Amino acid sequence: MLTVRAPATSANLGSGFDVFGVALGTPADVVRVERAPETTISVTGAGSQYIPEDPKKNTVGAVADALDAPARIRIDKGVRPSSGLGSSAASAAGAAVALNELYDRGLTREELVPIAAEGEALVSGEAHSDNVAPSLLGGFTVVADGGITQVDASIPVVACLPETTVSTRDARDVVPEHASLDDVVDTVGHAATLAVGMTRDDPELVGRGMADRIVTPERTALIEGYERVREAALEAGATGVTVSGAGPGILAVCRGSSRRDVAAAMLEAFDSVGIESRAYQTAVG
Ligand code: HSE
Repeated sequence: MLTVRAPATSANLGSGFDVFGVALGTPADVVRVERAPETTISVTGAGSQYIPEDPKKNTVGAVADALDAPARIRIDKGVRPSSGLGSSAASAAGAAVALNELYDRGLTREELVPIAAEGEALVSGEAHSDNVAPSLLGGFTVVADGGITQVDASIPVVACLPETTVSTRDARDVVPEHASLDDVVDTVGHAATLAVGMTRDDPELVGRGMADRIVTPERTALIEGYERVREAALEAGATGVTVSGAGPGILAVCRGSSRRDVAAAMLEAFDSVGIESRAYQTAVG
């Protein structure tokens, strides 16, 4: 039997819609595989009751098919579905790594990205790589022109996850089809600032560079309590706050010294609007 830990991820980071992604230290899925005549899947852990075990309906089944690697697959979910923390991507990435090794397929992590993304397409309707790429490669990833650029980065963050859910499909329906040149210029400036910040491990630049006035405002409307949580995190010292992926998770970038205060402020702000939440004090890495 082979065991792989696959980390949660945060896609977009505000200004990098469908382009940027980061791997997070916690939470993570654990995927165990052993060879079998045909693929079976069992799922335990966070939100497992919402995840189909039928290999034709599970991201991981699509990965096993793509690698021609039938297996008994057990997934222990640390990353809750519909969280904005790349839940299905973590399972798909973990299975891709595990099955590649189990069957000696010899593919590189980069070559596994499109395979894991196919699994993602099964649940989200589109094959995005902005979650599977960082889950497979770690650090900060940029998906552009069908290729991926990865840099190692170390940035303290808090990922705060309310007990509410937002489906990726719903969150994509509110994305505007057009943007003004002014808004595009503004977003490009912020995205570039963020990317430079990642290469310098600079939480100030990364936090500032997450600002986006095209997609994020439409999505925050789907997350009850977002504005209150954002303000609380900034007051507690976060350098930037945005929606994690399609939400409802909220990502706050911090200086290391403020992470604990930021987490406490975000939890309290959700609590003040009657929503339970949990905060992962973690880091891009
Ligand atoms: N970039 C995607 C989105 C991530 O925000 O819709 C979720 O798969």
